[in-house]
Amino acid sequence: MRHKQLSLLILTLSLVACSDDYTPRPTSSGKTIYLEACARCHSGEPENPKMYYWSINPKNINARYIAYKVNAGSLTMPNFPNIQGESMRKLSEYVLQHNLKE
Ligand code: HEC
Repeated sequence: MRHKQLSLLILTLSLVACSDDYTPRPTSSGKTIYLEACARCHSGEPENPKMYYWSINPKNINARYIAYKVNAGSLTMPNFPNIQGESMRKLSEYVLQHNLKE
């Protein structure tokens, strides 16, 4: 019984996406931060203006939500505790500009 609970706990922990310690340089642009931290999952063609990276649920299209998401993460997305302040502002601006529009 105890073994069963322990393996359940380990299984649960391994499913939770972990924290990513990526730290942007103060001089990095929003695009650079995006390419370094996000593009491996939210991919796209940076040079093709018609190719947007992903679509954000319409009710979530705002900088506050993006900042929340990046710092909080989720089951499937790592959280990025070191993206803060000005870097977060530049990143969320870039994400909003490249969000899929209808
Ligand atoms: C390891 C892969 C991975 C990385 C790296 C990643 N994401 Fe995500 N992201 C996901 C997945 C999977 C989802 C969808 C599930 C969810 O909402 O949690 C998601 C969802 C999101 C959403 C919510 C979309 C919606 O419709 O509400 C936003 C915003 C977002 N990511 C932004 C970012 C930003 C900005 C970065 C870079 C700092 C980033 N993600 C890095 C995997 C990733």
